[in-house]
Amino acid sequence: MNAPTGPGGLDEALATRDQDLSVRDQDLAVGDQALSVRAQPCRAAPLIETPRLLLRHFAPHDAAPLRAYRSDPVVARYQVWRSPLSEQDAAEQVLRYASERPVDPGWFHYAVEHRGEGVLVGDLAVWLDDNLRQAEVGFTLAPAHQRRGYGTEMVTALLDHLFLDRGLHRVSAECDTRNTPSATLLERVGFRREGLRPEFSLNPRTGQWTDTLIYGLLRRQYTAARAPRR
Ligand SMILES: CC(C)(COP(=O)(O)OP(=O)(O)OC[C@H]1O[C@@H](n2cnc3c(N)ncnc32)[C@H](O)[C@@H]1OP(=O)(O)O)[C@@H](O)C(=O)NCCC(=O)NCCS
Repeated sequence: MNAPTGPGGLDEALATRDQDLSVRDQDLAVGDQALSVRAQPCRAAPLIETPRLLLRHFAPHDAAPLRAYRSDPVVARYQVWRSPLSEQDAAEQVLRYASERPVDPGWFHYAVEHRGEGVLVGDLAVWLDDNLRQAEVGFTLAPAHQRRGYGTEMVTALLDHLFLDRGLHRVSAECDTRNTPSATLLERVGFRREGLRPEFSLNPRTGQWTDTLIYGLLRRQYTAARAPRR
């Protein structure tokens, strides 16, 4: 099944909402701070930019590359999401991601695009707490784009955005104890290992209970360790 586009479809719904967002900023009262979060005027515009990557809203054309890497058994090995994905699963998933908003509590998925090649290299998932001060992050890169530092680059840019632009207090993450690339990435960008939960996650494909590493990072820890922003 193809994603609905054109009159009455996703494109029209998103265009209508873009017009709405373009005339409305969202003011968030956060504890003793009032943060003004400017709504994105255009969904095609990147939300976050790095030297090599664009972090942007998902769009219907991302369904095929998302399906390809999420269906790879090596990529899905330590994940609890459904895999392999059918064409319809991928189209529906991308539509759901495309309708999310980064300032709303709950999930927001960034599509991560390579600037030069214009291809989807992976995605970043952020779970924003109802209090708007805490988040949990997850990340995935397509196999062809691993081991080039893109993971480090995209997660660092996301942490800069969450802590420095949006003033979050704490960001958490977790991964399977056997997922060395993920644990290495988390520690490289500054996360502290806070614990291990034995048999905390149920792998839907194998039916096995797996051990989970817990990571956390506070804004004061992040800002103390990071180089001044250029
Ligand atoms: C977790 C995951 C994103 C990590 O990807 P990754 O490619 O290891 O991470 P990076 O993109 O930061 O690349 C780091 C590697 O690239 C190398 N590298 C090359 N150029 C680099 C650059 N410019 N900057 C930084 N590192 C660079 C690093 O030396 C490092 O190599 P090493 O692994 O031999 O130490 C990836 O393994 C993945 O998508 N896994 C499947 C999904 C998953 O499990 N997600 C985690 C869920 S908790």
